[in-house]
Amino acid sequence: MPTVREALRQSASMLSKSVKNPKKEAMILLREWLKKDDVFLITHEDFQISDIDGFFEWVKRRASHTPLEYITQKVSFYSREFIIKEGVLVPRPETEILVDKTVELIKEFGAENVAEIGAGSGVISIMLALLTPHIQINATDISRKAVELAKLNAQKFSVEKRIKFHLTSFLNGVPAPQILVSNPPYVSKKEELEKHVLNEPHAALFGGEHGDEMLKEIVLLAKKLGILALACEMGYDQKESMENFFQDNNIKNYSFYQDLNGLDRGFIIKG
Ligand SMILES: C[S@@+](CC[C@H](N)C(=O)[O-])C[C@H]1O[C@@H](n2cnc3c(N)ncnc32)[C@H](O)[C@@H]1O
Repeated sequence: MPTVREALRQSASMLSKSVKNPKKEAMILLREWLKKDDVFLITHEDFQISDIDGFFEWVKRRASHTPLEYITQKVSFYSREFIIKEGVLVPRPETEILVDKTVELIKEFGAENVAEIGAGSGVISIMLALLTPHIQINATDISRKAVELAKLNAQKFSVEKRIKFHLTSFLNGVPAPQILVSNPPYVSKKEELEKHVLNEPHAALFGGEHGDEMLKEIVLLAKKLGILALACEMGYDQKESMENFFQDNNIKNYSFYQDLNGLDRGFIIKG
């Protein structure tokens, strides 16, 4: 039976060619496999692991570029632990800023109902429900897997009565909200992505030839519906094309925001 020390050494070596920090990822995988924490691993290096085969299967999956979160089925977002499953986009830390921006809009407009286009695992809508306890949310996604997972996460955080998840495109069949939020697919088809990112659903990543096609449709939809405010995440290189689009469509009250690395990351439009 291998010990913790041996399992960590062997798994870090198996991961060395495919991940940036093999030792750290080996620790995460072993800690999750054993259902223990890092302190246990550090203080029990001679602990013998009886059921090790499944752990090395996990390591092999990670070595062949399966995102770590799909293996552990856990993802941290806004300091909460959400469930994540293969076939649904892994939430990114920068999207926490979109949550904050939307909370500010909800407060500024005294809004009571919000809609989200492209809910994925549900993290944005669920955080909005937790941070602004009076609002009702309609959230849509075209992926059945995403809608099922988002419902599961809403139950985990006991907000399932305040968020209705719809398997639909854009806002089809959904009442017009006061505030609209979206982190839609915005990557250009031409962009080269890392292997582990390409193992995420392509319908959640690619927004079209240029990447900003869905963002533009959402802006026009918000304008048509007379929505009070729209908040969207976008790609770091899409500010210029979005700004030109706003000007061409006579949209004046807009602002862009940056992520923690100082990169352009999203925009707000007030009606
Ligand atoms: C970038 S992911 C965002 C997921 C989640 N909101 C997050 O921030 O982690 C985009 C999501 O939009 C969904 N999507 C793509 N096209 C859509 C459409 N026409 N209507 C609604 N959702 C769509 C995808 O299935 C995917 O779940």
